[in-house]
Amino acid sequence: MSSRIGPPAPSEYFLAIGLGRLAILRYTNKEGRSKMAPVPIRSSAPGKVILFGEHAVVYGRPAIAVPVTQVRATATVKPASPGSGLTIVASDLGKSTSLATAPRDEPLAATARLTLAHISVPEPDATLTVSSTIPIASGLGSGAAVSTALVRALAGFLGCTLEPAEVSALVFEVEKIHHGTPSGIDNTVVAYEQPVYFVRGHPVERLTVGAPFTLLIGDTGIPSPTKKIVGRVRQGWQREPARYDALFDQMGDIADEARRMIETGNVGALGSLMDENHELLVELGVSSSKLDDLVETARFAGALGAKLSGAGRGGNMIALVEEDLTEEVEEALRETGAVEVIRTTITTTK
Ligand code: PMV
Repeated sequence: MSSRIGPPAPSEYFLAIGLGRLAILRYTNKEGRSKMAPVPIRSSAPGKVILFGEHAVVYGRPAIAVPVTQVRATATVKPASPGSGLTIVASDLGKSTSLATAPRDEPLAATARLTLAHISVPEPDATLTVSSTIPIASGLGSGAAVSTALVRALAGFLGCTLEPAEVSALVFEVEKIHHGTPSGIDNTVVAYEQPVYFVRGHPVERLTVGAPFTLLIGDTGIPSPTKKIVGRVRQGWQREPARYDALFDQMGDIADEARRMIETGNVGALGSLMDENHELLVELGVSSSKLDDLVETARFAGALGAKLSGAGRGGNMIALVEEDLTEEVEEALRETGAVEVIRTTITTTK
């Protein structure tokens, strides 16, 4: 979501369509050249969780992911003095770098360069500040959210409003730096900020949620290095392709069934599908004793179902809960060692 602080006059805007861009709103000066916003531009993007199909999605099976709006990444771009170039500040990390000298694979600088190239404008004189409340390396899409907020804020500062598909494609390029061989599900759900049914290489399908449902997201506090875990799964798949493909097929079938249950509002059935998916992830070798403890705790405390979410080994688990048991399940998760519990309700986002 981009928000302009003190927008320029409407007469300064025009709609441009072309060069592979679906729709670009750019404001111009009298000569028709795009110009920078005279005021700060701020954008934000949500976290996410994968409900069904992580890992299998890397191998072409379907998966379902939803945005988590309780945690967000934010990017703000402000004008800077002429000739200063673009300075990128990661305020949470206390780091500042200039675009001109940042290494090629530094993710924030790479995101800015990709954005500038996409909208074909030179480096502006500006300060771009990013911050995030999304825990890192925990399966909540922190990298994709920071990139998404950055792309939107920088494009907005330069007078462009990018479509979700464009933002998602740019962020996917950055995800490759973070993860090596990402499926593309993180950048998709974060850029669209809607529940999605995702199959690698296929157009994104937005999910209609038949009946809202509530999730508790419990953090093990243990980092989940996606690239490493995805690499280990790949080694296993190369050793035993038939066994792994059979697991991925079952996960894909569960995601398809879950899609029907979400669309028809059959929340009760979703819980058992989460349980089944978790068992398959255990067989895949990506769970851990802490994830299993939290999953079992949630079920014992009355959750309709629970599973790990994301790459695994650490990171977060999710539990599907009915409204009246939310407090009990949350308390049980904290007592079992969840370092943070986020409550989120999933609905169709307009
Ligand atoms: O970033 P994480 O931890 O949510 O993991 C991404 C999900 C995987 O399916 C494991 C990898 C991918 O690229 O889809």
